[in-house]
Amino acid sequence: MEVYNNRENFPYPFKGKSFRYTNNSILLDPPSSIDCTDHYEREVQIKRKLLEEHPERCYQSLPTTMEAQWEAFALVADNLATYFPEKFSLLKKGKEWCFSNKVLNEQHSFIFGDASSLPVEPLDFIGRHVQEDLILMIQKDRELFLDAGQLCFPANWSLAFNLGMSFKELHHPIPGFKDNDLVDRIQAFILKIEDGAPWVRTNWQMMAGNRLDTPLETFHDWGQARRQVTKDNVGELVHLRVEVQKLFRLPRTHSILFSIHTHLLSLEAFSGNVEWAKQFSSILAELPSYIYEYKGIALYREAVIDYLNERVRE
Ligand code: HEM
Repeated sequence: MEVYNNRENFPYPFKGKSFRYTNNSILLDPPSSIDCTDHYEREVQIKRKLLEEHPERCYQSLPTTMEAQWEAFALVADNLATYFPEKFSLLKKGKEWCFSNKVLNEQHSFIFGDASSLPVEPLDFIGRHVQEDLILMIQKDRELFLDAGQLCFPANWSLAFNLGMSFKELHHPIPGFKDNDLVDRIQAFILKIEDGAPWVRTNWQMMAGNRLDTPLETFHDWGQARRQVTKDNVGELVHLRVEVQKLFRLPRTHSILFSIHTHLLSLEAFSGNVEWAKQFSSILAELPSYIYEYKGIALYREAVIDYLNERVRE
């Protein structure tokens, strides 16, 4: 079983003593859609296995997205070669491109814009070289629609179910979102995103267990662990789950690329930082029930607070 116990580079998501849903996006610097961590090889292998075994769960696209897919492909491949030159390279001779993944020792030559020169669709292809999930939001009449995506590590949602949904429909299940027009304000913000000025935000969750692939479709397998949290196993079993989400404008098709990088850290490792333990304990104690119920942590929230307080006292 993989151990997630390294606090270094963990994207700590909290500020202040309480948490509410807000637009917490900030400008992304440096503007890379991708990050490569120590878990790169393992996570890319998990993604590829899931894509082979559950293709319809992990990859969906509408045929109208091909141009936007190539645009997303170019952005991600360029970012890989620019920000991780020791791991990836991209050579271009007109439309003849060659992408190399030096970590996995793979090289692919293809004709940019010709889907028949790749083994799978462009978004699916480039997603098999990164830890991130990649979602394409197509803009139509000042609304955004989830028309393509490669999603292997969803936090309890379904790509197949959500394909074709608008931004508002996607966010419908979140309590409090529609009441205070937050969803309209966030969509208005995304519509204004410009080419070359991407944004980043974090989303946090907690989970019992350390699986990255937690889709709605298999909730019966992984959701059970919530009932198994005890005072004795809470530090090891419960994990903080933080998604680093990035938003890029793709200028030719005017669509949005949304990349999601999921990080896990055991509560035991997390609380080794006393300041983090203190702050998170206050936040959990103050958290309104509509948020902790939606996040699925109602069953073990108190066990986590007790554990954090104990670690602070030690
Ligand atoms: C544009 C690409 C985006 C997509 C495709 C997307 C999709 C989703 C989906 C599928 C969910 C889960 C809903 C469910 O329970 O079924 C979700 C949750 C959520 N989204 Fe988004 N989202 C996007 C951007 C954003 C942005 C920019 C923000 C805020 C600025 C945001 C805020 C949230 C929040 C707060 C939740 C609840 C998460 C939680 O409490 O754990 N989303 N989103």
